[in-house]
Amino acid sequence: MKGLVYLGPGRKALQECPMPKIAAPTDAIVKMSKTTICGTDLHILKGDVASCTPGRVLGHEGVGVIEEVGAAVSAFKPGDRVLVSCVTACGRCAYCRRQMFSHCTTGGWILGNSIDGTQADFVRIPHADTSLYPIPNGADEEALVMLSDILPTGFECGVLNGRVAPGSVVAIVGAGPIGLAALLTAQFYSPAEIIMIDLDENRLNVAMRFGATAAINSTDGPAAATVMKMTANRGVDTAIEAVGIATTFELCQKIIAPGGTIANIGVHGTKVDLHLENLWDRNITITTRLVDTVSTPMLLNVMRAARLNPAQLITHHFTRDQMMDAYETFAHAADTKALKVIISF
Ligand SMILES: NC(=O)c1ccc[n+]([C@@H]2O[C@H](COP(=O)([O-])OP(=O)(O)OC[C@H]3O[C@@H](n4cnc5c(N)ncnc54)[C@H](O)[C@@H]3O)[C@@H](O)[C@H]2O)c1
Ligand SMILES: [Zn+2]
Ligand SMILES: [Zn+2]
Repeated sequence: MKGLVYLGPGRKALQECPMPKIAAPTDAIVKMSKTTICGTDLHILKGDVASCTPGRVLGHEGVGVIEEVGAAVSAFKPGDRVLVSCVTACGRCAYCRRQMFSHCTTGGWILGNSIDGTQADFVRIPHADTSLYPIPNGADEEALVMLSDILPTGFECGVLNGRVAPGSVVAIVGAGPIGLAALLTAQFYSPAEIIMIDLDENRLNVAMRFGATAAINSTDGPAAATVMKMTANRGVDTAIEAVGIATTFELCQKIIAPGGTIANIGVHGTKVDLHLENLWDRNITITTRLVDTVSTPMLLNVMRAARLNPAQLITHHFTRDQMMDAYETFAHAADTKALKVIISF
């Protein structure tokens, strides 16, 4: 079988890999049908993720068909179509019992990180009963790929942690797939305003189509001043950081209203200043979170009821043999206008 293998910083190849085998009775082997590439895969390729070592098959998203199950797997059988969650959960450890699957002591974000991932013909999924979801009959499988990671991430880390509420004013800094997923799911709660901030005009146009009430291009001018002007100097109730750099987290600190919540989603590789000299008396909350994927069953229901259309995030299609081209397209999103790319097997 073939997989997209990380070979060290800046190096990757689509190459022949050993077929995964059942290693524990709770494992399943899934034959992949569709996968995608995440911004986090690009972080790995830059050498930012120390836990991911050379030789690793990348990918933590996708849908497929059960090929084989271990003796202890009871929820799935060969032939079942499944959604792969980016987070593996045993369902039994102290963190899983608290619904904090991201910190499962024998799981968490391991796929395409510390174990081989989904950008391959076959993948081994540990704790299969609690880490896979059955695909509802008639579901749009490509759209479902958006439920492996980006929709639960935007919703849990951004919307839920950010306490988006009816009538509230929300700003989302970063209109990449994650910021756009936060934009789509923030609308579950009918906020009065959703202001999107990015440097990329195309992504801001997409955001306006997806329901943003205003868009600010922060390339030309101080975005903070524009937000304060738009909100009669009050600021926003929720500021969602969906980029992962110091400038954008600092922007969130400048625009947060008294009593507001800054919900960080971005993966930060370098230090960020916390301006308590300005914020100490503002009754604000700051949250951080690694996606737990606890909202996946709810998102599946909302999607089944056609109240959410994740397919609108898909811009490009590739075959398994074009996986290297898919990476090129995704890595140059400003030129290619890529949001999410689908790779079909
Ligand atoms: N917390 C989690 O569990 C979790 C899960 C998945 C991804 N992430 C992280 O979420 C972040 C967003 O992911 P993504 O896939 O959407 O990334 P992305 O790189 O596709 O999108 C980031 C967006 O930020 C914009 N941007 C860059 N600099 C900016 C600036 N100075 N001001 C305004 N906008 C700016 C870019 O134009 C881009 O549209 C990443 O850091 C990713 O690693 C976190
Ligand atoms: Zn991801
Ligand atoms: Zn666990």
